[in-house]
Amino acid sequence: MSATTGTAELDLGNRLIQVPSTAVVVIFGASGDLARRKLVPALFSLASKQLLPPETAVIGVSRQEFSKDEYRERMRTDLHELGGVTDVDAEVWESFASRLHYLTADFGDPDAFRRLRAVIEDLDRERGTGGNRLFYLATAPAFFPVIAEGLGGVGLAQQDREGEQFARLVVEKPFGHDLESARALNDHLSGVFRERQIYRIDHYLGKETVQNLLVLRFGNAIFEPIWNRRYVDHVQITVAESLGVGARGGYYDTSGALRDIVQNHVMQVLSMVAMEPPARFEAREVRDEKVKVLREIPAFDAARVAADAVRGQYGPGWIAGEQVPRYRDEKRVDPASNTETFAAMRVFIDSWRWAGTPFYLRAGKRLPKRATEIAIQFKCAPLLPFARSGIEAVEPNLLVIRIQPDEGISLQFQAKAPGMAIDPHSVSMDFAYGTSFLRVSPDAYERLLLDCMLGDATLFARWDEVERAWEIFQGLLDVWEAETAHFPNYDAGSWGPAAAHELMARDGRAWHAL
Ligand code: BG6
Repeated sequence: MSATTGTAELDLGNRLIQVPSTAVVVIFGASGDLARRKLVPALFSLASKQLLPPETAVIGVSRQEFSKDEYRERMRTDLHELGGVTDVDAEVWESFASRLHYLTADFGDPDAFRRLRAVIEDLDRERGTGGNRLFYLATAPAFFPVIAEGLGGVGLAQQDREGEQFARLVVEKPFGHDLESARALNDHLSGVFRERQIYRIDHYLGKETVQNLLVLRFGNAIFEPIWNRRYVDHVQITVAESLGVGARGGYYDTSGALRDIVQNHVMQVLSMVAMEPPARFEAREVRDEKVKVLREIPAFDAARVAADAVRGQYGPGWIAGEQVPRYRDEKRVDPASNTETFAAMRVFIDSWRWAGTPFYLRAGKRLPKRATEIAIQFKCAPLLPFARSGIEAVEPNLLVIRIQPDEGISLQFQAKAPGMAIDPHSVSMDFAYGTSFLRVSPDAYERLLLDCMLGDATLFARWDEVERAWEIFQGLLDVWEAETAHFPNYDAGSWGPAAAHELMARDGRAWHAL
């Protein structure tokens, strides 16, 4: 390891990876699902890879009563049972567990924040954390402003001007429930933390395949010249899930597919697909380009909602041979719920690169399988010189970027089937992560936690991006809220309501079969 300014570098094979400065990581909502399934396992994994300095301490904060030892024991079990970590190295665990601390606290109680400050200051002294703090809000969103204000009230939000000593706030989604509440939340947070201290997480940006979009587009010379309206017929982005809402009915029923997936994950992916090349792969440059795309998408008004948007809610059905209930019968869901579990739409980007090229977006629960992909369909060849063979049409080229599962990319093109006749067939060139790289991709949260500790905000959403995404959809939310939908309108285990297929058919297109 060689020292750099406040960080060190670790040579992991062929590339230098930065190791962050020592810090105290505080997880609010420590007994919740996210902390137990994702955050603690991600920190443990970083520790196993020597990417977490040994002095870094983690404090879990929640309302539940645990002693420090009980908390450590529980995290050990969770690593296995929830985090899916199969081989926990005993030595790494011992060292990691020794830095795990726990504080029972009611977030509304100012005294809780004084107690937290005392614990952090002790750790600062014991472990030499240099006053660096990372606060992770993994609680219900109602607590986000309360916690930010609590931290500010006891002076824990301060960082020095040069950023040598840092205090960062990681905010989970949902960032607001609509445009107005998102603005109010941002006002609250920015009353305490500066924009450069706030890291709005969108775990899709931490996915290996989403980051690979930038390498595919800007690390190759052959794609960019055709990545525009002249060659691309249309783009499809699909986030399909086979699961229902599980135990999250209470949250989901106040959210729905548009707020839960489209406004954030899908728009982040869309902006990476459509943006102009950034000058550098750095936070300001990348996020400037992404927000430009969002500004070029017209906001939905009532006419656009009627023409270009479809919603659905699943009825009962079968998935993988198992009978599943309708959404309205899920736990903690209103039996007369008007919440959509499926959303599909057509959007345009009013830029020179994309004018007139439709982007079709869809997201839904209880679809036949879990699959997230981007399909870029190119225009057909302008002329086919195979008339003598009776060939008048062939399939267009299709570039499919599979974000998950089965991560990879395939390019579909035409090849002559062997034989005497000219007989074009669709074939594909495939790249699969699993076979090309014999390495397991880090979990999205691992990557994002590391970036945040390093102070790299490239893969986090800036406020102007989040705000613009809400602006685009506010008109759509308003119309959907005002009108009662005819739900359920698709069977669990199908590809969504008939109207989603009609949306494509009207344009003479179809959803790519996944
Ligand atoms: C979350 C949503 O943000 O993303 C969930 O709240 C959804 O409803 C999840 O299931 C999907 O994430 P992934 O990584 O499994 O695609």
